[in-house]
Amino acid sequence: MIVKLITLPKMIDKRGNLSFIEEENHIPFKIRRIYWIYDVPGGQLRGGHAFIQQQEFIIALSGSFDVLVDDLEGKRVYSLNRSYYGLFVPPNVWRQMVNFSTNSIALVLSSTSFDKNDYVYDYNEYILNKSRK
Ligand code: TYD
Repeated sequence: MIVKLITLPKMIDKRGNLSFIEEENHIPFKIRRIYWIYDVPGGQLRGGHAFIQQQEFIIALSGSFDVLVDDLEGKRVYSLNRSYYGLFVPPNVWRQMVNFSTNSIALVLSSTSFDKNDYVYDYNEYILNKSRK
C-alpha cells in the first residue's frame, strides 16, 4: 500500500456538484470512524505522527491545506484544495498537515476506531520501525 491521491466521482450539475465515497470501492478500506479538523488558527500544524495500523483518507472538504508525508518513497507534499479528491495514507507513514486556509475543513475517514496506542509520536522510533519492515 502506498500513499496516493484518489479522484472521487463528481456529478457535475448546474444546481451544484456532488461527490461520494463508497468503502472498499473508491477507497481500499472499510470506514470505522470519521473525524474532521476545523477552525484551525493560521500557522497551526496538525498531525506530526504515524499510525501502526490505521489507514486513512484525507479530503479538503472546504478550503485547502498541505499534507507532508514521509514514507519508504521519501518526503513529499500533497496540496489538497478540492472536495472531489483526497489522499490515501496507509499505515506506517509519517504525516503532518500544514498551511490550513481560513475556514478550511479536513475530513478524515479512518479504518480503525480511535486507539491512542496506534500512534507513533517519536520520529526516531518511526524511522526504526520503518527500517525493520
Ligand atoms: P490527534 O489525533 O492527536 O490530533 P492531530 O494528530 O490532528 O494533531 O487528536 C487530538 C485529540 O483528540 C487527542 O486528545 C485524541 C483525540 N481524538 C479522539 O478522541 N478521537 C479521535 O478520533 C481523534 C482523531 C482524536
